[in-house]
Amino acid sequence: MKVGILSGGGDAPGINAVIRAAVKKGIETYDCEMVGIRNGWRGLVESDFLKLNLEETSGILPRGGSILGTSRTNPFKHVGEAERILRNAEKKGIGATVVIGGEDTLGVAYKLYEMGFPCVGVPKTIDNDLHGTDYTFGFNTAVSIATETLDRLHTTAESHQRVIILEVMGRYTGWIALEAGLAGGADAILIPEKPFNLTEVCNLVKRRQSRGRDFSVIIVAEGAKPKEGKEILYSKGKDEFGHVRFGGVGYYLGKEIEKCTGTETRVVVLGHLQRGGSPTAFDRILATRFGIAAIDIVHRNQFGSMVAIQGNEIISVPLKEVVSKRKTVDLKLYELASIFFG
Ligand code: F6P
Repeated sequence: MKVGILSGGGDAPGINAVIRAAVKKGIETYDCEMVGIRNGWRGLVESDFLKLNLEETSGILPRGGSILGTSRTNPFKHVGEAERILRNAEKKGIGATVVIGGEDTLGVAYKLYEMGFPCVGVPKTIDNDLHGTDYTFGFNTAVSIATETLDRLHTTAESHQRVIILEVMGRYTGWIALEAGLAGGADAILIPEKPFNLTEVCNLVKRRQSRGRDFSVIIVAEGAKPKEGKEILYSKGKDEFGHVRFGGVGYYLGKEIEKCTGTETRVVVLGHLQRGGSPTAFDRILATRFGIAAIDIVHRNQFGSMVAIQGNEIISVPLKEVVSKRKTVDLKLYELASIFFG
């Protein structure tokens, strides 16, 4: 059988580990012919393929990004492109496709599956916001980078008696901010799931100062917003899946805190440093397990599903369930983290 592989949506550390594992397992266990599909769904719209064998995937385990490239192409936004994908896959002789993606890419996979496109999803996103799996690969690496950044910001904030704000990614959820904030000892963690009260944030800074802790480090998710306000956007434009571009909440907070506390503030936006570079060992292993499991599920013709990790077990869940809702943060973990605020 010819098995296609594509990576769609935002890149994440670990994509190449999935590709390497799926190619190894497919060729050596099931004697498959593995076909790389370039740049997400666009590669199937344009019949942009490359042969994937053991040589191509040798040495890519620690590499960030995707050797296949990726895109935020939504074939359901362009008349006839979904049908073209079905035709091009058939023309190429692709019997099944491993789809590495987040909510958008897997949403397309589910709709194509309903149209007769045999596929298996692999949960990829630094946001960790996919329903049905405890973890997506890429998340642990993003949390590790943000945690290390917080450690660094603590020393400079303390030396200058400043408030430093770290803005992190996560789109509509606060998983990165919450876990990095907990691991990095942030003095406040602001997430979309709990709109913040600006006065309370300022009072937290002042309370610390009254205890002689004349510096604070605050982590804020890009989608966090004030109780009475709206999310802060980088621009008004939307991508092909209707997503806005967040950006600016860190600077908004920095200016407001400086105004209400009279304390010097500085702002760091971590941006795509959370997406680039080599995956952690945890993500390399998780991605490898996902890649192997995806090929096993293809072999069992269990299409329209996604590999997932629940506890420490790798299972499969229906794509229909995965795309039905977003996984927001565990508020019990947030309550635990709040013990350390201020
Ligand atoms: O979904 C992953 C993610 O990194 C989000 O956290 C972020 O808001 C978005 O992608 C950024 O997208 P792009 O790289 O297309 O600007």
